[in-house]
Amino acid sequence: MKILVKSGRVIDPANNIDEKLDILIVDGIIAELSPNIDAGDAEVVNAAGLLVTPGLVDMHVHLRDPGFEYKEDIVTGTRAAAAGGVTSVACMPNTDPVNDSLAVTKYIIGKAREQGSINVFPIGSITKGMKGEILSEMGELKEGGCVGFSDDGLPVKNGEMMRRALEYAGTFDVPIISHAEDLSLVAGGVMNEGPVATELGLKGIPWVAEEATTARDIMLAELTGSHLHVAHVSTKGSVELVRLAKKRGVRVTCEATPHHFMLTDEAVRGYNTNAKMNPPLRSRENVDAVRAGLADGTIDAIATDHAPHHPDEKNVEFAIAMNGIIGLETLLPLTLKLVGEKVLTLSQAIALITCQPAKILDIDRGTLSVGAVADITLINPNKEWIVDAAKLQSKSRNTPWDGEQLKGCVMKTLLAGKEVYSRS
Ligand code: DOR
Ligand code: ZN
Repeated sequence: MKILVKSGRVIDPANNIDEKLDILIVDGIIAELSPNIDAGDAEVVNAAGLLVTPGLVDMHVHLRDPGFEYKEDIVTGTRAAAAGGVTSVACMPNTDPVNDSLAVTKYIIGKAREQGSINVFPIGSITKGMKGEILSEMGELKEGGCVGFSDDGLPVKNGEMMRRALEYAGTFDVPIISHAEDLSLVAGGVMNEGPVATELGLKGIPWVAEEATTARDIMLAELTGSHLHVAHVSTKGSVELVRLAKKRGVRVTCEATPHHFMLTDEAVRGYNTNAKMNPPLRSRENVDAVRAGLADGTIDAIATDHAPHHPDEKNVEFAIAMNGIIGLETLLPLTLKLVGEKVLTLSQAIALITCQPAKILDIDRGTLSVGAVADITLINPNKEWIVDAAKLQSKSRNTPWDGEQLKGCVMKTLLAGKEVYSRS
């Protein structure tokens, strides 16, 4: 089985490649990259005028399966990923039941393998049932295929518990992913604290609710020497905490979401529940700090926090609406926007959604090295398209970009050389 991806502009940041090359795939593996490969008996995929990148890696998604299949399931979530050019996702454990057992981990991996469109790497919970009381059996879960541990959606309230989690995970060399939030400081807030919240009459969430826990967890990473990954950093202070910790040599990595580098809390006006998420959209100053963190390498990955919810959970009063937005199908154009706005180089942007998240989770994806699995995304960087929430592959419709024109379009997604998405 041979496939030749012909004449594309190949961008593989892990190998410092940005040039016009052909890629020969044999039996799902990248066999050769060179300027002019003879097609022979290979099936030819014409990539002229397109970018050819490693399949995108999104290290923070909620597939909602098992338990909340009315929002999304492994079939629709992985289809949405393929349509977004994403060939690998790490899925968060806040399902029902929580992914704190081998049974759930195996269910996710099995269903993804049999019915999914792309690679799914489960994240196990830090504590059983995400209750913050008893550590999960991380060793067993890692053996079963979990690539990290998180109670995402909730913070680990107890500092001692977080310390033990880092120590324990450290022995298996897997990251602890912190959803950094001090709920006592959130104190019932529903959007960013500031003038917009005041005008709308909504209770605000202060920056310190995020930064206090980020600071604690960084110090615990320093104490234990274990790998801490901070999810969805959204404030200037969080970026600075990570920056300083990296300078001190702490094993900390972090991610930012497209919504936190594209939108401010102004988007909440009109009580727009598709601008409600956790952490909340912040002020311009914070958005600029997240962008600066992406540009200078403080932030290691862009991840969507794809959080599907049913319309009935969003078409309600702002204060009681669920947190989160879908993101898999808009990840690429929103990331490319940072290139258009000269925040990132193209190579930096692609690294943030391929090799860098893959490295954090230690998964062998995100590059086009010879011998690697041929997960490949073909992109038309200039094609403009209008987001139509009703037509997305995700089961849910909760995107703030409905009706917006975005630039940069996934034309084809290959998983181990096999086409899993194609756009005409
Ligand atoms: O907006 C969010 N949605 N933030 C989280 O931390 C959890 C997520 C969800 O599960 O819906
Ligand atoms: Zn979270």
